[in-house]
Amino acid sequence: MSKVRAAITAVNAWTPEYILTNAELETMVDTSDEWIRTRTGIHQRHILKGEGLGTSHIGIHAVNGLLEKKGIAATEIDLIICATTTPDMMFPATANIISDGVGATKAFSYDINAACSGFLFALETASKFIESGAYKKVIVVGADKMSSIIDYTDRTTCIIFGDGGGAVLLEPLEDGDGIQNSSLHTDGSGKVYLHQKAGGSAKPATAETVAAKEHFVFQDGRPVFKAAVKGMSSAINTVLAKNNLAVNDLDWLIPHQANIRILKSVANMIDIAEEKVVINIERYGNTTSGTIPICLWEWEDKFKKGDKIMLSAFGGGFTWGALYLTWAY
Ligand code: UT7
Repeated sequence: MSKVRAAITAVNAWTPEYILTNAELETMVDTSDEWIRTRTGIHQRHILKGEGLGTSHIGIHAVNGLLEKKGIAATEIDLIICATTTPDMMFPATANIISDGVGATKAFSYDINAACSGFLFALETASKFIESGAYKKVIVVGADKMSSIIDYTDRTTCIIFGDGGGAVLLEPLEDGDGIQNSSLHTDGSGKVYLHQKAGGSAKPATAETVAAKEHFVFQDGRPVFKAAVKGMSSAINTVLAKNNLAVNDLDWLIPHQANIRILKSVANMIDIAEEKVVINIERYGNTTSGTIPICLWEWEDKFKKGDKIMLSAFGGGFTWGALYLTWAY
């Protein structure tokens, strides 16, 4: 028996029905399907429509499906952590709303905001509660309703983002499989390139901030692109070295789905075989905290017990990192 590790024992995801295609975006802003496909790799993204529906709606669907799939009751859950950058409201935490929505009455819950790296940061945090023996069933949700903070007249951002998310169940395992370790980083000086200007305590919402469109995502794409390639590839190399692994030992690389060109550059820099890189950006766009759990869910049937999987992400903050796990089932 080896040490207790936190293992992903179930995964589920949920994306809203409405699909925003590149063709529809062509009618909204000065862009083209060809530009979007070649510069980002995105063909479509899902958008959550409906009065009063926030990120918790995505999370509740993902968690309910997860519980059903695993055949366990919501009351068995000890803790729910939700990674999101688009909480339903400033407070309470979206995780609290999800807990209530699924009936996880015995769980405590809270949010983690690390932008596009949120799911990785939450997974690392959650794994410690399992490894320590404190809790036995922890759910990590990664979900975002990015459409709530996107300016659909800004062609540089509205083509990238979509809504969606997923959830994983973490449980203790002693056969060596599960979450191994990670390398996580932040650099707050990167905030100038990617942020939301108003709506927080530094600049609360006013009629002026709304008129100035300061509640939407601001992004200076090129520096973010460069930092993403550098950050993700260096974090992956650090985690490979930490685990005495060569890149060829990996079965899968699951990168945050930011831009197909970022994913291909990272794959080139670490020199991994293309077929090992999980990519579904063409169908979902960038769902921020949602990308990695959606990938896990879509590829679940291809994973075998013991598969060596590297997750990596980069996002606003800046935040970035890589996490290594071996598949538990
Ligand atoms: O999730 C983590 C955080 N975010 C990211 O990882 C995103 C990182 N950045 C990117 O993915 C890319 O920088 C973008 C997709 C945002 C932009 O692609 P780019 O190749 O860096 O384009 P650019 O900003 O350098 O713009 C090139 C040209 C510009 O025109 P000029 O100045 O050359 O005439 C833009 O105005 O493309 C123009 N452009 C567009 N044209 C058609 C920008 N957006 C569009 C558009 N359609 N949607």
